[in-house]
Amino acid sequence: MFERIDYYAGDPILGLMDKFLADPNPNKVNLGIGIYYDASGKMPVLDCVKIAEQRIAESTAPRPYLPMAGLPGHRQACQELLFGKNAQAVQENRVATIATIGGSGALKVGAEFIHQWFPQSKCYVSDPTWGNHIAIFAGSDIEVGTYPYYDSASNSVKFDEMVSFFSTLNRNDVVLLHPCCHNPTGMDLTQAQWDTVLEVIQKHELIPFMDIAYQGFGEDIDSDAYAIRKAVDMGLPVFVSNSFSKNLSLYGERVGGLSIVCPTPDEAVRVFGQLNFLVRSIYSSPPSHGGYVVDIVMNDEALHQQWMGEVYGMRDRIKAMRLALKSVLEAKLPERNFDYITRQNGMFSFTGLTPEQVARLQSEFGIYMISNSRMCVAGLNASNIDYVANAMVEVLKV
Ligand code: LMR
Repeated sequence: MFERIDYYAGDPILGLMDKFLADPNPNKVNLGIGIYYDASGKMPVLDCVKIAEQRIAESTAPRPYLPMAGLPGHRQACQELLFGKNAQAVQENRVATIATIGGSGALKVGAEFIHQWFPQSKCYVSDPTWGNHIAIFAGSDIEVGTYPYYDSASNSVKFDEMVSFFSTLNRNDVVLLHPCCHNPTGMDLTQAQWDTVLEVIQKHELIPFMDIAYQGFGEDIDSDAYAIRKAVDMGLPVFVSNSFSKNLSLYGERVGGLSIVCPTPDEAVRVFGQLNFLVRSIYSSPPSHGGYVVDIVMNDEALHQQWMGEVYGMRDRIKAMRLALKSVLEAKLPERNFDYITRQNGMFSFTGLTPEQVARLQSEFGIYMISNSRMCVAGLNASNIDYVANAMVEVLKV
């Protein structure tokens, strides 16, 4: 009966994690999945989260189903982070926000909404992008194409090509954008480049879908949201999916949000209603634990401040690892240019290693990165950085 069902080849990111865990090599280093590990190689539980969880544990309140859209405090937290405190669009009740099951859940609900209400729209993702973007939109029966983004020869953004390409798209086509910390390349647009891109999007009446999973890991909370806030100021109909997996280190709790900025409050009511309907028909309502943590940390002034300090601590450690890796590689391979490592933002570095070189790192050294050459810099620390750099030198030598 099930013989005709295809085998699943596995996910290139999550499957690599399983492979890493099964590897008996005592020197193994996980630079695959986008998870932040601290200086001692451990995934942190943030202090602000510990305090919130303590409060939740002490509460004997029952655990009812949450509303389809999640906790109001969770939704408000998403809006304040993304659009800024007292953002005009929020005050005017023009933003429909729901809590979602991680950033992936937000993308899925957003994709279903587009499929249902904008059936002619195609979705364009950057070349390259996070693999699941393509799977999620294609899985909602949306035709997915790519737009030029990364030039591996110069390790920079193909900005002119990207802008020209956008001007060939049709009205209401969706362009999926990474406001900060591009996954997988780490190469972001400047604010001036965002201004140009958003003007083209406005002129051609495209729908910007901004996926922000690393807010706080680039420059800072506000600068990382520049593209989102600028698009809202310009009156664009922006979709935003956000994730708290990384910046609250709450990976397994699956907490995120989906916001759609509308021209009028009435449209926001309609959109919010349809998002609720979609949630009900897919998973009914979100789980509560992560939502309570988000609500407590983000809406308590002192905990919020503490959280920002903890996010910036993670950001700064990653930046220090970039500098350290670059200097070891430059010292050992002076004929090569490794500037790209510190020009990139967020957790990832697109190293430009060939799939064969990546495979050698894995089989000979137990160093795991994605075959497209993406390295999670957040997996580096003082104990493994020389080992990783030396192994890279070994496979880069001709
Ligand atoms: C990643 O890109 O490694 C993370 O976003 C984790 C994932 O789900 O792929």
